[in-house]
Amino acid sequence: MTTVLSLSVDPALDRRAPNQQIWPLTATVTEAGHLAIGGCDVVDLVARFGSPLYILDETTVRAACQQYQASLARLYPQAPHRVLYASKAWSCLAVCALVAQEGLYIDAVSAGELLTAVEAGVPGDRIYFHGNNKSHDELRYALELGVTVVADNWHDLQGLRELAGDRRPRVMLRVTPGIECHTHEYIRTGHLDSKFGFDPNEMPAVLEFAAQRNWEVVGLHAHIGSQIFELQAHRDIAEALVSWYRQGRETYGLPFTELNVGGGLGIRYTEADDPPTIAEWVEAVVTGLGKAWEGSGLPWPTLVCEPGRSLIGPACVTAYTVGSQKTVPGVRTYIAVDGGMSDNPRPITYQSRYSALLANRPTATAATVVTVAGKHCESGDVLLRDVLLPAPASGDILVVASTGAYNYSMASHYNRLPKIAAVLVNQGEANLILRRETPADLLRQDCLPDRLRG
Ligand code: LLP
Repeated sequence: MTTVLSLSVDPALDRRAPNQQIWPLTATVTEAGHLAIGGCDVVDLVARFGSPLYILDETTVRAACQQYQASLARLYPQAPHRVLYASKAWSCLAVCALVAQEGLYIDAVSAGELLTAVEAGVPGDRIYFHGNNKSHDELRYALELGVTVVADNWHDLQGLRELAGDRRPRVMLRVTPGIECHTHEYIRTGHLDSKFGFDPNEMPAVLEFAAQRNWEVVGLHAHIGSQIFELQAHRDIAEALVSWYRQGRETYGLPFTELNVGGGLGIRYTEADDPPTIAEWVEAVVTGLGKAWEGSGLPWPTLVCEPGRSLIGPACVTAYTVGSQKTVPGVRTYIAVDGGMSDNPRPITYQSRYSALLANRPTATAATVVTVAGKHCESGDVLLRDVLLPAPASGDILVVASTGAYNYSMASHYNRLPKIAAVLVNQGEANLILRRETPADLLRQDCLPDRLRG
């Protein structure tokens, strides 16, 4: 068997950091010369489940979950830890249930994400509820479920005061830490000019307000951004929060026990990306916490983190079928696939780059530079610009790597394309986890007033 991608098909968990791999840990080439993920031939999967198709590798998700858990257990033995899956990266029943099986908690940011976690079997006391503009309906639902509400602003605090009634909400306070980091400006959140969290100047008033309530105010939260490679920014988080943590406990008598450092670890989309491993990220966070806490007399907090992209991003690939082509002489060749910005809005939104290969001949020499376009009525609907591939032809199965995070979750119906299906693969078995929508599904919410009927 020729293997160009990875030697591992061992489901007993590979120790390589998934976020440093472009392809899922189980990617191999079959004897038929096809790409296989999770022991399933990708060409067969497309024949069986249709195209385009998200293919999610269970081994890679579990490995990432286990690396966060094991690194925290090893590097932070002083106190308990909690790993929350930031479900905004990919919220659906199967993904929530899978990470929950690995012992992870869930971070949800809307009634829809809360419902998904609950329906996946996650109890309310294992869910944290985020968001910078929670509606009263969402807060009411969160209170009924007994989740931890991460208060982002005064609107949340006042909403909780109005709605709590006899309940004693479990609350965490989100602070804007004032930490700059290098990533796309749309996904930076830690700098002071951010819509998220309390400005540090407001913290004394926030702590005082929280102390006057009969709430279980468990600690502080900060998140500095996403797709981050530099460790220093994450090393600095505890330092940015320690004085508010101390004031909360000592001046206002708040029962703080948790410090939530958010998510943000980046992943490798192309060879040019060089993210640290999950263990290195945990080490940076723990080192920063050690420095900030040592000698403070404060008890070690429960360390909470909430990764999304690094847990789910590298585990998924999207398979498309190649259709039309257009060569602009002396300029470029466009290869069009049967999906595009509706199943992966990241290139058009953040100019994100991806890696790809042909599943029906992954080992063929990649000698042709092409631009892979989607099928949407928009010139910017380009999935990969100037990539080397083995001269794709109509009918080839083109597979894009690292599409697990913020692809399905940001998918749209642009041009009235139905959302695509997803399968979970493991040891040769493939299970449908998201049914493919049909054009008729798109009409389900449409209403046609009588006076417009022909
Ligand atoms: N916690 C909070 C409060 C967050 O806002 C986020 C992501 C996370 C955790 C998880 O961050 P991660 O580990 O995934 O970096 N749509 C963008 C990413 C937006 C990130 C939003 N917040 C993208 O496709 O790149």
